Amino acid sequence: MTASIIDGKAFAATVRGKVAEHVTRLKTDHGIMPGLAVVLVGEDPASQVYVRNKGKQTVEVGMNSVEHKLDADTSEADLLALIDQLNSDPAIHGILVQLPLPGHLDSDLVINSIDPAKDVDGFHISNVGLLGTGQKSMVPCTPLGCLMMLRDHHGSLSGLNAVVVGRSNIVGKPMAQLLLGDSCTVTIAHSRTKDIEAMCRQADILVAAVGRPEMVKGDWVKPGATVIDVGINRIPHPTDSAKTKLVGDVDFASASEVAGAITPVPGGVGPMTIACLLANTVTAACRANGLAEPEGLTA
Ligand code: GUN
Repeated sequence: MTASIIDGKAFAATVRGKVAEHVTRLKTDHGIMPGLAVVLVGEDPASQVYVRNKGKQTVEVGMNSVEHKLDADTSEADLLALIDQLNSDPAIHGILVQLPLPGHLDSDLVINSIDPAKDVDGFHISNVGLLGTGQKSMVPCTPLGCLMMLRDHHGSLSGLNAVVVGRSNIVGKPMAQLLLGDSCTVTIAHSRTKDIEAMCRQADILVAAVGRPEMVKGDWVKPGATVIDVGINRIPHPTDSAKTKLVGDVDFASASEVAGAITPVPGGVGPMTIACLLANTVTAACRANGLAEPEGLTA
């Protein structure tokens, strides 16, 4: 293997440490206790695990964690009423509605009912528009985590060719906006892109966020490129049929022979997502109180 490993687990611990310092300062200097509310509708097992981890890490950095667990058949009106109540609660600085929502609920309507200043996921259309026009916004957590790791690794990203594979609203599109904001030349590739391999080989920075296990092979990677693997896919274990294995969207074995640096799965982008959620919550608490934003925790 030639690539250096970008250790997202260690980086996330550093981010959480910075968040904890800011939380202490907010409490001791200003009497402000940052609060994050997470809303979970239904009993999706993966979502339950995410929500539990979010709550645990929120408390670990010294913030207040509020969880609202609603029945799967909760009406849209009841969910909107809860969001209204959280919007007007001064003790709540961040609101996250765990996705996916049950099918009878309109996700866009629900997300767009969150106060944009408390939208720590950065999914509200106001935040999407602010990010797209280079204005101060709440930035989606996974792309923010990727940006932090890229800035840490490269220093300046200016002038680099970036290819983002995947065009989702949660990762691909905001990732492209953030890279453009840091003066990269940005291409979004997707399932209909012609000769996607050749497109990827142009990339100094290659971000894979498609949700297809090990799709990006070593011969798609420009020698020395930085590869950020956003995928988290569970596949049957290659040698033990009783087990499963977590893999990314990048074929790590072949890509790490060619890349200059690469994020592993697990232990790469994954841990950064919750760390950035905590960072966004402390940022929201600072903004809500007219205080300077925490340095190094925003885009
Ligand atoms: N479900 C999976 N990832 C996410 C996320 O980042 N935010 C929300 N709200 N739901 C999710």
